[in-house]
Amino acid sequence: MADQHLTIRREGAVEYLTLNRPEVRNAFNEHVIAELAAWAANVRERAARGAVRVCVIGGAGKMFCAGADVTWMSKTVQYSEEENLRDAAAMSAMFGAIDALPLPVIGRIQGAALGGGAGLAAVCDVVVAAEDALFGFTEVKLGILPAVISPFALAKIGRSAARELFLTGARFSAARAREIGLVHAVVPPAELDVAVASYVQEFLTAAPEAVAAAKVLIPNVWGRPFSEAAPVTAAAIAQRRVSKEGQEGLRAFLEKRTPGWSARVLDTKDTKNTT
Ligand code: COA
Repeated sequence: MADQHLTIRREGAVEYLTLNRPEVRNAFNEHVIAELAAWAANVRERAARGAVRVCVIGGAGKMFCAGADVTWMSKTVQYSEEENLRDAAAMSAMFGAIDALPLPVIGRIQGAALGGGAGLAAVCDVVVAAEDALFGFTEVKLGILPAVISPFALAKIGRSAARELFLTGARFSAARAREIGLVHAVVPPAELDVAVASYVQEFLTAAPEAVAAAKVLIPNVWGRPFSEAAPVTAAAIAQRRVSKEGQEGLRAFLEKRTPGWSARVLDTKDTKNTT
């Protein structure tokens, strides 16, 4: 499927995905959702081959993403209950697929991340925001609900902030988003790319399979009693110690050299536009 609403650019093992509907502030409809889901499946496959190690999700124009496309949602009144359920399930699966990607995903937020746009931020591992960006789980202001994004948003911001922000639908600052765990770094707008690049570089010096294992470890351990978590954690580290990467990392440290997986963005610059 040819992407119509996404722009994809690759620099070595780093993939930059841009939501590209600036005329509607990158709001997403069923077509964008299908493209995002297809992209996630494709990245998963390329990550398994080691071709992609980090993804950056951003938005074209002045805003990251204004959430679900209101025009599309208003049309769903004509859908049957079954069609509406299918539609919502596809959106849920798309968020789930990005959330579970076995590689780090960085969100680059300028302007605003509202509704599903804040949900997209929530499925990123690291979120870097411009200091003037606005966030909001604004759905109740439109008479709807941040339902599909709630598992991801709750995992980031917790119940207390959700009770305030899901129920008021109020917009909030990047500083507040950082306070509640939705955002990790807040920078002046002109420094957004530098801040993103610095996270990209950090990930390129971490072992890719170990990073993927760390990503899986978090939901596996979170919320479990220690007695249940302990065997999971022991098995996870035991597996990593004997892995090729684990052995290489430990040996490289002892030999005072850089491990084989370590890369620099510019070392591998092989820019491809795959719009
Ligand atoms: N769905 C569909 N279209 C949207 C949209 C959305 N979620 N958000 C913005 N747009 C459209 C506007 O209707 C407008 O279209 P027009 O040029 O045909 O009038 C265009 O994008 C620009 O929006 P505008 O409000 O003029 O731009 P802005 O830069 O002043 O403000 C926002 C941008 C995102 C802050 C503002 O549009 C907004 O608050 N949107 C609603 C976001 C929201 O609540 N999303 C949750 C959905 S569940």
